[in-house]
Amino acid sequence: MIQIYRGHWRPIAISQVFALLYVAFMIFIPMQVMIIINNYQDINAVIQNAVLIGIFAVLTGIFCMANTVFAVRIAEATGNFIRNGIFSRIQNFSFGNLDRSATGELLTRLTSDVYQINIGVQLSLRSLLMAPFAIIVSLVLVGITSPELLWILVVVLILSIATFGTAMYVMQKQFQTRQAKYDLVNNDLQEDMGGIRVVKAFVRQDYEIKKYRSINDGYREANVNPLHTNAITMPAALFIMGLATTLLVMFGSPLVVAGTIKIGAMLAFFQYTFIIIGQMWQLSMLMPQIVSAEASAGRLKEIWDTVPDVQDTKTPQPCTPGSVKGKIVFENVNFRYDPKSETDTLKNINLTIEPGQTVAFLGANGSGKSTLVSLIPRFYDASSGRILIDGVDVKDIPQENLRNIVSIALQKAFLFSGTIVENIRFGRPESSYDDAKAAAQVADADTFVSDQQDTYDARVARKGQNFSGGQQQRISMARAFAVKPKVLILDDSTSAVDIETEGRILDALPKFLSGITRLIVASRVSTALAADKIVVLEKGEIVAVGTHKELIKSSPLYMDIFDSQLGGLKKEDIS
Ligand SMILES: Nc1ncnc2c1ncn2[C@@H]1O[C@H](COP(=O)(O)OP(=O)(O)OP(=O)(O)O)[C@@H](O)[C@H]1O
Ligand SMILES: [Mg+2]
Repeated sequence: MIQIYRGHWRPIAISQVFALLYVAFMIFIPMQVMIIINNYQDINAVIQNAVLIGIFAVLTGIFCMANTVFAVRIAEATGNFIRNGIFSRIQNFSFGNLDRSATGELLTRLTSDVYQINIGVQLSLRSLLMAPFAIIVSLVLVGITSPELLWILVVVLILSIATFGTAMYVMQKQFQTRQAKYDLVNNDLQEDMGGIRVVKAFVRQDYEIKKYRSINDGYREANVNPLHTNAITMPAALFIMGLATTLLVMFGSPLVVAGTIKIGAMLAFFQYTFIIIGQMWQLSMLMPQIVSAEASAGRLKEIWDTVPDVQDTKTPQPCTPGSVKGKIVFENVNFRYDPKSETDTLKNINLTIEPGQTVAFLGANGSGKSTLVSLIPRFYDASSGRILIDGVDVKDIPQENLRNIVSIALQKAFLFSGTIVENIRFGRPESSYDDAKAAAQVADADTFVSDQQDTYDARVARKGQNFSGGQQQRISMARAFAVKPKVLILDDSTSAVDIETEGRILDALPKFLSGITRLIVASRVSTALAADKIVVLEKGEIVAVGTHKELIKSSPLYMDIFDSQLGGLKKEDIS
């Protein structure tokens, strides 16, 4: 919190001045009561002090209100600041960081955890400083007016601290568990919502309902526990209050009768005892909230302090996209997703791609095609070895710069809600409407977009659900083309596009983006046939590189793939 409030102390200080003024006026009221009772025969003094009580009461109200207004505003501003901060940190996560974070968990942190902090800040500003101040001043005033009875308040304080302190300790653990269970609820909800069509297709609603119920029940239990603990604090406060009253009557009354303390002082003592217990009770309401906010802050700090796996070097070498030729070299690259795992996903990759070449990557599912191409824009960093673009290690190029040079259409097309043109211009918002249209024409998306009533301004539903799989892929490719990169990666981007359309796209591409290097991950051999070079991957290793003509003779694996897909055709026809 200190980190967050650095440079924003003024409103907090003002709120606390209001809080202290509020307490100060509240606390002087019993003194006035004492003066009135002790001087009940002096009518002038009674009137004067009665008026003062009225004024103090009004001021108490005004300052209490002012403190609340400030507390609420600061708490809201804090929540807002944390949400923005966490959101931008998540945006800066690398792919690796994202792999390790469950979406539901991030959602809980951005919503429920921030809310806990919000309430914690609000209540703290309202009583964290004020309550101890009220307690101390009350003790001092009682010490001055009735020192003989001060020990009763000390007993009250010790009992309160012991009770509320223990409750706080227990609750802290319970709140942590509660939030962790809430993560589970949100993760399950998020996953189920994402896959609800699959659930229905396989008639697994009952299973999903049972699973959610069980997780939700766990959350209910975890939620109830701290409330149970908190429930003990209220009777405890009442018990302490009763005990204080009993002690006061037992030990105070004889002193009043003996004339050691005045009746006014005794009444003031009663009021101060209630102020102290009232404030202790306020603190006991506040403490669980602070504890809960603290547990939430710990969870948010994890995200706040996460260092992205992929970072720019301290001495980056920016390169002007215009001057990039697009030569790509993989030098002894090994890669594993989990540094702790025993095996590499990519093994000993050595590959040179000349500027302007079209290179196709073929291989079975899971052979490492997507992984290999994702290392070029640094979605992940190679575990060992280097990847060079025009002789410069990609790690030395600032990431933003790098992603202007390398553009990728990801294997899973994703569209944002909004319009088609917004989706196409996503990677280069400054490009014109006509640029977007031109990119869409190359991606063979122009025809179906033009058929829409609003053409390029047609609405795209959440996750692009109002478009077919192939249409989504074509808009996603248009988005990659519109960046006008020097290196274009299509990661199986035409898998849902029919072969004829795919042919048109691959033919039109060189005219639109002339001279750029193209890396095309393909699941169909037909996609790879025209490439300058075909790279065949098996279990994370490059097992063959060459043109179709070369590979058909030299690579048994390529031959197998070719036969299984295009075996119906005569090989001579194609070669
Ligand atoms: N984010 C990830 N975290 C951990 N392992 C991963 C991740 N992505 C892929 N893998 C693993 O890496 C291996 C290679 O996956 P990759 O996605 O590169 O294969 P691919 O050749 O693109 O397959 P496909 O043809 O199915 O797209 C697989 O065994 C997969 O389990
Ligand atoms: Mg893949």
